[in-house]
Amino acid sequence: MLSTELTVPSNGRTAHVPNPATPYQGDIARYWDGEARPVNLRLGDVDGLYHHHYGIGDVDHAALGADGDPASEQKLIAELHRLESAQADVLMNHLGDIGQGDTLMDAGCGRGGSMVMANQRFGCSVEGVTLSAKQAEFANGRAAELGIQDRVRARVCNMLATPFDTGQIAGSWNNESSMYVDLHDLFAEHSRVLKVGGRYVTITGCWNPRYGQPSKWVSQINAHFECNIHSRREYLRAMADNRLVPQAVIDLTPDTLPYWKLRATSSLVTGIEEAFIKSYEDGSFQYVLIAADRV
Ligand SMILES: C[S@@+](CC[C@H](N)C(=O)[O-])C[C@H]1O[C@@H](n2cnc3c(N)ncnc32)[C@H](O)[C@@H]1O
Repeated sequence: MLSTELTVPSNGRTAHVPNPATPYQGDIARYWDGEARPVNLRLGDVDGLYHHHYGIGDVDHAALGADGDPASEQKLIAELHRLESAQADVLMNHLGDIGQGDTLMDAGCGRGGSMVMANQRFGCSVEGVTLSAKQAEFANGRAAELGIQDRVRARVCNMLATPFDTGQIAGSWNNESSMYVDLHDLFAEHSRVLKVGGRYVTITGCWNPRYGQPSKWVSQINAHFECNIHSRREYLRAMADNRLVPQAVIDLTPDTLPYWKLRATSSLVTGIEEAFIKSYEDGSFQYVLIAADRV
């Protein structure tokens, strides 16, 4: 991979900045550099954990405002955010025993909310990679504000060719970021950086092979996010080919539907809510967690 070294302005660290390996990666870098949807930023403002993923769990209706409550929008935002953080908590439940001396890798780290949560939970170091310089700068800025910049770092880097040493990483994950890459290339890189016995976890939307082919709703989601949703079968096959042996495969679809139905009622709708709800309900699309051992 061609690369140059640049300095990320927020904290003066040197970051590995790729020239995009492909024109597509340039498109994705631009997409996330320009992304500033209220549904992401206003939720992150609730407690400073900025996520770019969806939520799971039952809605706490008592936490929502009654009709006419002037605070109802803020209460709804806080509830959506709680469900998104709950999603990251469930991902981390599957990382296994992580100690303070361990290093984790967040592949496609976004604005870094999951990295902060992992550091707060395990006390470990977390290395994040994203194609977006804006996201890396934001994540490093948040880490500096929290005083954890020596333990949590984002860099602009292609997750298919990371600068980490072979076997350096105790646990790694993709939280809704695996639909931007070829899965064989992705899992080959996770398998390289993970130590033997390390754990890989993904939470992702995937199309359901039982449905047959990607439905029109799945195609709509691909077009909306400029991504390429893989099937559940592709995940399992690419893992098996790369020494990643599933230890848990959990269908989170019923757990994420309440989040989507709540979000569809909010002022923060982005227009893609119907495609998610319809595809989850017709069985063409699934929200899954897969945790795998690096053997
Ligand atoms: C939907 S966001 C998820 C962000 C984060 N995982 C979270 O849960 O908040 C997708 C992320 O994948 C990253 N991404 C996509 N392709 C990538 C690649 N080839 N290398 C590194 N990051 C990539 C994007 O830059 C973006 O940060």
